[in-house]
Amino acid sequence: MTFMELAGRRYSERYFGPEPVEDEKLALILEAGRIAPTGCNYQPQRVYVIKSAEAMAKAVSTGASLCGCPIALLVCYDKTEAWHNKRDRCYDDYTCGEQDASIVAANMMYEAEELGVHSLWIRGFDSKDVIDAFDLPENIVPVMILALGYPSEKSHPARLHGSKKDLSETVKFI
Ligand SMILES: Cc1cc2nc3c(=O)[nH]c(=O)nc-3n(C[C@H](O)[C@H](O)[C@H](O)COP(=O)(O)O)c2cc1C
Repeated sequence: MTFMELAGRRYSERYFGPEPVEDEKLALILEAGRIAPTGCNYQPQRVYVIKSAEAMAKAVSTGASLCGCPIALLVCYDKTEAWHNKRDRCYDDYTCGEQDASIVAANMMYEAEELGVHSLWIRGFDSKDVIDAFDLPENIVPVMILALGYPSEKSHPARLHGSKKDLSETVKFI
């Protein structure tokens, strides 16, 4: 399967079945995140595996749309470790932490897809709820939750999945 076939096959899963994700597959998904590029290779990402019933109950309590997934990865970064690009004259406190966490998450999302594990990228939560639920230290910034699992009989791509802008609207040759 080419990367384009893989990327084209993926869709946001909102109807997970109850089957657990095998430990071997989880290990490969986490490894795909581990080898992602990061700013200056500082690797500030922190991935919290939400697998136990207790952890999942905490995640659900945040109101994030977990859609019944059996496992989820809370992807954060340590703001004391992220590369601070001091050349930037627009944003004094700009770090690459959000980008680093996002590319780690994207690597994991596509590795999951290759393994037949569906996923949902979730950012529709209040960071405060997540910080409180998991008692995250002050230096840890939550970026997203990657819900993982197998599809159920109800699974299907949402209408928005097929609604992508034409390249002419998003790509400018300058
Ligand atoms: C940064 C980001 C945040 C998102 N947050 C949520 C979310 O909180 N809840 C949700 O159901 N989907 C969320 N999604 C999924 C998008 O709605 C979805 O990717 C988009 O509608 C396109 O559909 P597709 O993934 O099926 O192609 C998010 C996706 C991204 C990239």
